[in-house]
Amino acid sequence: MEVKTSLLDNMIGVGDMVLLEPLSEDSFLENLKKRFDHSEIYTYIGSVVISMNPYRSLPIYTPDKVEEYRNRNFYELSPHIYALADEAYRSLRDQDKDQCILITGESGAGKTEASKLVMSYVAAVCGKGQEVNKVKEQLLQSNPVLEAFGNAKTVRNDNSSRFGKYMDIEFDFKGDPLGGVISNYLLEKSRVVKQPRGERNFHVFYQLLSGASDDTLKKLRLHRDVSKYNYLSLDSAVVSGLDDAANFRTVRNAMQIVGFMEDEVQSVLQLVAAVLKLGNIEFKPESRCNGTDESRIKDKNDLKEMCELLGIEQSVLERAFSYRTVEAKLEKVSTTLNVAQAYYARDALAKNLYSRLFTWLVTRINESIKAQTKTRHKVMGVLDIYGFEIFEDNSFEQFIINYCNEKLQQIFIELTLREEQEEYVREGIEWTNIEYFNNAVICDLIENNKNGILAMLDEECLRPGTVTDETFLDKLNTVCAEHQHFESRLSKNSKFLTDHSLPHNCFRIQHYAGKVLYRVEGFMDKNNDLLYRDLSQAMYKANHSLIKQLFPEGNPAKVNLKRPPTAGFQFRASVSTLMKNLQTKNPNYIRCIKPNDKKAPHIFTESLIRHQVRYLGLMENVRVRRAGYAFRQTYEPCLERYKMLCKRTWPHWRGRAREGVEVLMADLQVPAEEFSYGRSKIFIRNPRTLFFLEERRRQCLQDLATLIQKIYRGWKCRSHFLLLKKSQIVVAAWYRRYAQQKKYQRIKSATTVVQSYARGWQARKLLRELKYQKRCEEAATTIAAYWHGTQARMELRRLKQEARSKHAVTVIWAYWQGTKARRELRQLKEEARNKHAVSVIWAGWQGTKARRELRRLKEEARRKHAVAVIWAYWQGLKVRREYRKFFRAHAGKKIYDFTIQRIMQKYFLGLRNNLPSMSPIDKNWPARTYLFLDGAHAELRRIFHLWRCKKYRSQFTEERKAVYEEKLEASEIFKDKKALYPSSVSQPFKGDYLEISKNPKYQKLNNAVDEKVLLADVVNKINRANGKGTARIFLPTKKSVVLADQKTGQVKASVPLPDLTSVSVSTQSDGFFALKLKEGSASAVKGDFLLSSEHLIEIITKLHRIGATATDREQLSIDISDEFLVQFKQDKVCVKFVQGAPKNGNSVSCKRKNNRLLEVSVPATA
Ligand SMILES: Nc1ncnc2c1ncn2[C@@H]1O[C@H](COP(=O)(O)OP(=O)(O)OP(=O)(O)O)[C@@H](O)[C@H]1O
Ligand SMILES: [Mg+2]
Repeated sequence: MEVKTSLLDNMIGVGDMVLLEPLSEDSFLENLKKRFDHSEIYTYIGSVVISMNPYRSLPIYTPDKVEEYRNRNFYELSPHIYALADEAYRSLRDQDKDQCILITGESGAGKTEASKLVMSYVAAVCGKGQEVNKVKEQLLQSNPVLEAFGNAKTVRNDNSSRFGKYMDIEFDFKGDPLGGVISNYLLEKSRVVKQPRGERNFHVFYQLLSGASDDTLKKLRLHRDVSKYNYLSLDSAVVSGLDDAANFRTVRNAMQIVGFMEDEVQSVLQLVAAVLKLGNIEFKPESRCNGTDESRIKDKNDLKEMCELLGIEQSVLERAFSYRTVEAKLEKVSTTLNVAQAYYARDALAKNLYSRLFTWLVTRINESIKAQTKTRHKVMGVLDIYGFEIFEDNSFEQFIINYCNEKLQQIFIELTLREEQEEYVREGIEWTNIEYFNNAVICDLIENNKNGILAMLDEECLRPGTVTDETFLDKLNTVCAEHQHFESRLSKNSKFLTDHSLPHNCFRIQHYAGKVLYRVEGFMDKNNDLLYRDLSQAMYKANHSLIKQLFPEGNPAKVNLKRPPTAGFQFRASVSTLMKNLQTKNPNYIRCIKPNDKKAPHIFTESLIRHQVRYLGLMENVRVRRAGYAFRQTYEPCLERYKMLCKRTWPHWRGRAREGVEVLMADLQVPAEEFSYGRSKIFIRNPRTLFFLEERRRQCLQDLATLIQKIYRGWKCRSHFLLLKKSQIVVAAWYRRYAQQKKYQRIKSATTVVQSYARGWQARKLLRELKYQKRCEEAATTIAAYWHGTQARMELRRLKQEARSKHAVTVIWAYWQGTKARRELRQLKEEARNKHAVSVIWAGWQGTKARRELRRLKEEARRKHAVAVIWAYWQGLKVRREYRKFFRAHAGKKIYDFTIQRIMQKYFLGLRNNLPSMSPIDKNWPARTYLFLDGAHAELRRIFHLWRCKKYRSQFTEERKAVYEEKLEASEIFKDKKALYPSSVSQPFKGDYLEISKNPKYQKLNNAVDEKVLLADVVNKINRANGKGTARIFLPTKKSVVLADQKTGQVKASVPLPDLTSVSVSTQSDGFFALKLKEGSASAVKGDFLLSSEHLIEIITKLHRIGATATDREQLSIDISDEFLVQFKQDKVCVKFVQGAPKNGNSVSCKRKNNRLLEVSVPATA
């Protein structure tokens, strides 16, 4: 689990000076010391970071630390420069506020290190990616380059920045770096030619001499020995802990990363070498006969080598060191330089050369690191500028540097102290006014345009006549004497007259950080920053592109007689621009403190630190913070940020934001003294309260995150569950369906089995019953038969017995009779032989009677047997009939139905496979197979035919339909009525035979006819007088019939259709037709038209159709007969068609026989 840390946890001393109890300078220093002794080098005053230089490397800048401070609240962890960098970066990225990080402190306090830490932190936390990494790398690598050329070892700092640097790092909306812009301020160029004791020249000289290869040095005409160069101080050439050779390699590598081309690097090194060479040029005096002092170069070897390096003509440079040309408006005056002047000129050139090279380097780096996109950038500015300097001997540079620090202090005052107070007033918060020192008055002393020190200096520099540093001091003594922060021995202010700590050639300024004594010597020179024009012109003439660029004023074509702006003026302008720039940004302060003068770790020199605490105004800073409130925020964002801490404000507060915040604070039970409600903001007195809120918020956020997580997980699980459920239902449905199907099939087959068993059983039962019944019936029959047989036999036997008995009786009787008869006979014979005959007859008669009786009995018995047999057969027949009723009759119907069904199926399938083609004229139809289907077969044939006719018709397009309609109509009119008709059936009705609309010949005629032409054909117009034909174009339209000349296309006659009453044609194969006109109409003046055409059938059909569709007149009647009357002018002429012999080919001839008859002879058709 993550360990929760806080600024307040495990605090050594107090992490935020605002929380210091009791607050005094001593307790402040004690707290600093306590923390410093425990390696806690950072302490807050509210949002300001105090940084103590540990002078040793501490393990607090590791990547782990970066991660620890990343995206953490400012007060959450123990004070660290990373917390400030993170805060600045996040408010730049998230709140779109441009930031500036102002790092101040005296030389060696750790400003440059702090700026590098800020940059490296931002580089570590901002976006990644190939392009972004390249930008980051370039931005970071600009530092070693600038440090090599702009830093030097001083007594205060082994790596002291001898220039001010302000770097704008530009970011895109995501917070990824896009590039940057570096501004440099006032390089301490005097260091190039002279360094104070114990100090060095700029690092690059030493780095070049110890780090460059022999080959490079040879090319640069240099020796590795530092002592060979006048400009390099010897006593501190080697600095412990500083590896110049390794640093040279670093610088070369950095230049390459930043984007310097190899030839550019070479040019730069050549210039560095040239500066060294320049320092070695020495002069000796030479007196001229005219008494003027001149100088000569002692040893021209260095000059020569330098000229070779820069491609300058030696004589040109030599002359420039010997003469000075002053150009006035009209004249040019050359004066010789004495030795001192020559040295001055040399040093001026060296300083200019180096400082211009430095400016060029900054410009070149800017070119490389500038943002490529033109979109709006967010900017984070990092200002690492020289701190306040109070040396024993303070000159122009210190004056300028301290002026800059005054301005920075002013900004600090403006933005923190004054604005804070003003805001409290604005917000209506109770405020006990804190008195603080506003250094605007000192700034005014220096920069005032009228009587400021810089203005005085410029004025003195530009003034004609003799001007010296002393005259400048005099001027200050008069102008600034009354100023409370200006002190000078010779000022009119009598109180300094006896102040022996104030030398005569000095003035003292009471800076906000303390009093500084400035010696005026060199002020004028340094402000003028004069480089003789001869030298700049000589430089311009160099055959070296970089040198040429650096001295543009040397171009003779652009000679500018105006003085260049003074150093003071330039600096004031650039400081003013810087201030304006800083004022637009949200400031973040890092106040660096130097713990001791020895550059040693663990030493806490109290007096030194007390001095810095004072002049940095840190106590004042704390007091303001404590008197006021550590944190403020407008109600809306405050409520927005903390509303989740209270149930009443979460998730939405409907009322005013302030009321919401009040509810929130009451709910959280924050003590009333811990906060105040301003007009638009809440002011929280203590960072602890703020942190309490933040902590609660963080917890709450965690709870909310858990809630969101819970809801999301719930939602996810629920969706998953619902999906599963849905799927399960689908699967279950399918499975159930499958199972039910299976079950159903099982049940069905079981049912079928059971059913079949049951049915079988039932059937068997029935069968058994039927069989039993049958058997019973058979048995009955048999029994009856037997019984009847028995009866019959018994009867027979009885009858036989009877008969036999009767026979026996008869026989006995006969015997007895016989005996009797014989006895009788004998008796009779005896008695009367006479009676013998009577006895014999009697006996015969009695015998006959017995035989007859026997025969009857036999017949009767035979008849009874026959009756029994017939009875038995009848019974059998009856049983069979019963049986058929129960079984055979039912099965028979089923078999019958099935057979019929099968027959029908076979019939239909056969029919389907043998269907005739879809042509309506196809007469084929498969033969029927069963007689009983006769009716259905014929009906199917009829239906099929109707259906294919319908199919055939449905294919017709409208035009084709119209054609067929016409053909149909022609058939209705002419079929079986005119012999010409059959030959026309196969001819298509083309209508426009002349293509009248396309043929240009008939264009005029076509135009003359208004309506659409329905038919265009050439017809023969029969002359009414002689029966001869003339060719005419026949054009019927919907409104009229037009006859036109075939050759000229001229309209001969136009008969409106209403005037046309009927058309007469013959029954024969000729093409004659008469158009009969309405009597009395205008068209009928010349009489009816007798015409002949090859397309008679089509013409008449078309005319008939036009009549059929017209609504305004009666339908045209068509008269088909071989004799009809036509009206020719006044005469009614009979046109008669006769069958002629086929002479002159098959042509039809027409002759006017007399006034009343016109005969048309039509050849008989074969
Ligand atoms: N945070 C730090 N940790 C370790 N050493 C530091 C730190 N800050 C500064 N130093 C040491 O102090 C030296 C001086 O620091 P730095 O160059 O940043 O001072 P400075 O304020 O820029 O001075 P100057 O105004 O002269 O440029 C560094 O070279 C380094 O050795
Ligand atoms: Mg520095």
